[in-house]
Amino acid sequence: MKHLLSMADLGVDGIEEILRVTESFVEVTARDIPRVPALRGKTIVSLFYEESTRTRLSFESAAKRLSADVMTFSVATSSVQKGESLKDTVETIQAMGMDAVVVRHASAGVPWQVSQWVDASVVNAGDGWHEHPTQALLDAYTIRERLGSLEGRRIAIVGDVKHSRVARSNVLGFHALGAEVTLVAPPTLLPPSLEGWPCEVTTDLDALLPKLDVIYVLRMQRERMTEAVLPSMREYTSRYGLTARRAANLPDGALVMHPGPMNRGVEIAAEVADAPGTVITRQVANGVAVRMAVLFLLLGSGASIA
Ligand code: NCD
Repeated sequence: MKHLLSMADLGVDGIEEILRVTESFVEVTARDIPRVPALRGKTIVSLFYEESTRTRLSFESAAKRLSADVMTFSVATSSVQKGESLKDTVETIQAMGMDAVVVRHASAGVPWQVSQWVDASVVNAGDGWHEHPTQALLDAYTIRERLGSLEGRRIAIVGDVKHSRVARSNVLGFHALGAEVTLVAPPTLLPPSLEGWPCEVTTDLDALLPKLDVIYVLRMQRERMTEAVLPSMREYTSRYGLTARRAANLPDGALVMHPGPMNRGVEIAAEVADAPGTVITRQVANGVAVRMAVLFLLLGSGASIA
């Protein structure tokens, strides 16, 4: 594997391999000194053109735990503000020497474009409405950790599918691992076409709740809603929000997931987000190990994990 751009490129074997290596790194991250020398001497650049809390910190801490050097690029304080193009920016960083670049951008396809310009490995950390493969991998890992397997599991992905790169990557990943995925959203929050999405679609969340193994709640991406897609947020919450009343209709042991950042009181009630059944902080914790696995598989040729 040279780049990680999309779940669609990985195939079941690729996903399985990353999840297997992740398991070793979960063990490493639990140590007193959670650091291994595997990527000593490698330089990893994080190039984030869009805001991020968890994904960026998670990649940077993954790189550091593998003993790589990390260069952090911040758009707000860079020459992008002077009008420097993406291509010139990438070539400038490449000239300083880098082995991998982790890219987040508001436009779909940018990580692929960057991969055409550089020799380094490119990791997609979220491109527009398109994909967010490491999120899907950490989510699959978290479900497997809690439920043993995704095979035959019923998973609902609820909310703003239209603007969500997480939804697309997760549908591909969960389906590849054998889960039955249903999207639950008002028609205005679905993409114009669901061709190539291996899943069912419904508007009836209440009917589905008692049958679910996992409910995956998406963030309402208000910054991407350029036109009115909903009568009101309150209306959305009343039909699709994971309220305490709805959560009570989930089977015992069902997992509540969210990629973060949460809009508490909109797509998920605060008391549900903080309840014992949620695995939202576990998703974040597993994110570091998954990203260690990805960076290791891209750059670690021959190095041992320990
Ligand atoms: C997501 C993102 O930015 O794609 N967050 C994340 O990476 N955990 C989801 C979101 O912003 O809704």
